[in-house]
Amino acid sequence: MILYFLFLLASSSAQAATDCIPRQFDHDSVVCVCNATYCDELGPVPWPVPGDYSIITSSRDGLRFHVEYKVPEIQATPDAIVVQVNHSYTRQAIMGFGGAFTDSTGMNIATLSSGAQENLLRAYFAPEGIEYNLCRIPIAGSDFSVRPYSYDDVEGDVDLDNWALAEEDLLYKLPMILRAQELSQNPIKLFGSPWSPPSWMKTNGKFNESGELLKEMWQPWANYFVKFVEAYEAAGATLWGLTTQNEPLSGFDDSWAWNTCGWTAADMRDWIKGNLGPTLEAAGMRRLKLMVDDYTRDTLPWYIMPMMNDANSSLYIDGTAVHWYSDNWVGPWVMDETQSLYLDKFLLYTESCAGFDHTGPYLGNWQRGEDYLHSILENSNHHSTGWVDWNMALDMIGGPNWAFNFVDSPIIINAEMDEFYKQPMFYAMGHFSKFVVEGALVADSSVVGSEALESAAFHHPSGPTIIVLLNTGEETLNVSITDGSEDFLNFQTPAKAFQTILYP
Ligand SMILES: *[C@@H]1O[C@H](CO)[C@@H](O)[C@H](O)[C@H]1NC(C)=O
Ligand SMILES: *[C@@H]1O[C@H](CO)[C@@H](O)[C@H](O)[C@H]1NC(C)=O
Ligand SMILES: *[C@@H]1O[C@H](CO)[C@@H](O)[C@H](O)[C@H]1NC(C)=O
Ligand SMILES: *[C@@H]1O[C@H](CO)[C@@H](O)[C@H](O)[C@H]1NC(C)=O
Ligand SMILES: *[C@@H]1O[C@H](CO)[C@@H](O)[C@H](O)[C@H]1NC(C)=O
Repeated sequence: MILYFLFLLASSSAQAATDCIPRQFDHDSVVCVCNATYCDELGPVPWPVPGDYSIITSSRDGLRFHVEYKVPEIQATPDAIVVQVNHSYTRQAIMGFGGAFTDSTGMNIATLSSGAQENLLRAYFAPEGIEYNLCRIPIAGSDFSVRPYSYDDVEGDVDLDNWALAEEDLLYKLPMILRAQELSQNPIKLFGSPWSPPSWMKTNGKFNESGELLKEMWQPWANYFVKFVEAYEAAGATLWGLTTQNEPLSGFDDSWAWNTCGWTAADMRDWIKGNLGPTLEAAGMRRLKLMVDDYTRDTLPWYIMPMMNDANSSLYIDGTAVHWYSDNWVGPWVMDETQSLYLDKFLLYTESCAGFDHTGPYLGNWQRGEDYLHSILENSNHHSTGWVDWNMALDMIGGPNWAFNFVDSPIIINAEMDEFYKQPMFYAMGHFSKFVVEGALVADSSVVGSEALESAAFHHPSGPTIIVLLNTGEETLNVSITDGSEDFLNFQTPAKAFQTILYP
């Protein structure tokens, strides 16, 4: 009877999930090819029936969201690598996973036929896809735009009479956001981040290079935020949050090639308590989560301390936004330190991408997927409440980018062929975003007996445990998960693999 049941379950899930159409470029793994009429899908979450558990695997050797169901055993496999889960030690609640609706993302998606556009947005947002729920929106231009611009480029217009959304919002960003919202089963939390104020509001009169906001522009710039929220919400894109400035310390670098604005920590503190905070409050926008820093770990915690230690600016701040670009040389303990200093503020990874060292896209590169999974695992275990990727879709050279800062993305679009390619990074994101839903609590987990295996464990809000594993090694591992109960989850983790385990 049980076997019959399992058979039914396996065959119904085989109908829901569809296969990856693999294609090898010049890297060690494959991309999955999607077009106007076909795209591989995982389908709904493959929950096991009670008494079983499910294992979802992706591997360098070609598995993509491969689903298996197994029955727990009463002993560990001899000599297995043990993953210990401690349910009684829980930490932060997850807010979500997602990517950014950059101008370039929208413009690239628009180069596809309508069928392929639909398949791409379904892949990220629909119940058959990986169900992103937390997405970032650049407020006007970033480097991932085809031109530098703001929403008011009329010099000296301090009353913002000429303020207006750009063609990029109306033609690309908003239509994609609205369609994503329709496809998604749950509301998508959207947060805006500015790269640069209008150049005339700045000390250097430029969007890029070294320049700060002129003191007399502190209030007009706060009013500009309110106009952004009002305009997006009027168009149907409800905001959940804001960051005060993307990468504020880059705005003190004379050679910074794209949109930025320099803020010292003391100025940021004074602007938040004197201008931005009260202005958002007066506009009825204190419901928005306000995040500071929006830069790399090497700024933690010193850069945020003046803002957080001043009660009058801290009042308006909900959390700290972090980017991954210094993670190779600054360990995750700065996340722990920051959390312990400010227990009532959350930490959230808001931007990361591969290929930022001017290498652009590597089609099918497994290491870049591994880098994503490693970062999400590590930061989940160090207080991050989620992980937001950078561009959701780039072209074959990793652009467009007006400042020639070409990078990689989980989806690369080949407009000429009307195809798009789902990279290993896409599946790395999905191993979390599909399963580790909003409200899941991070539980304690540790790996005994292997340097190659990394883990994170979560409690789904409706009860089940979710364990995500990364095997960076070249060997298949016998793994045994134990939580101190009578059930041992014994299975194999292939070489170079991502796994999500769902256990009722
Ligand atoms: C789309 O992809 C499917 C599956 O690979 C293929 O059968 C079909 O021919 C493709 N369509 C076009 C127009 O290339
Ligand atoms: C699990 O975590 C709790 C709370 O931190 C701790 O008291 C307990 O010793 C842990 N159990 C194991 C088996 O490590
Ligand atoms: C700053 O932007 C201008 C175009 O607006 C460009 O000509 C210049 O090279 C950029 N600066 C740097 C350092 O790249
Ligand atoms: C905070 O605001 C209160 C009330 O306006 C004021 O009395 C106090 O001096 C302010 N503190 C700082 C550190 O600015
Ligand atoms: C994994 O377990 C199987 C038996 O279940 C055994 O044959 C194999 O040698 C084990 N592999 C390792 C690397 O321990």
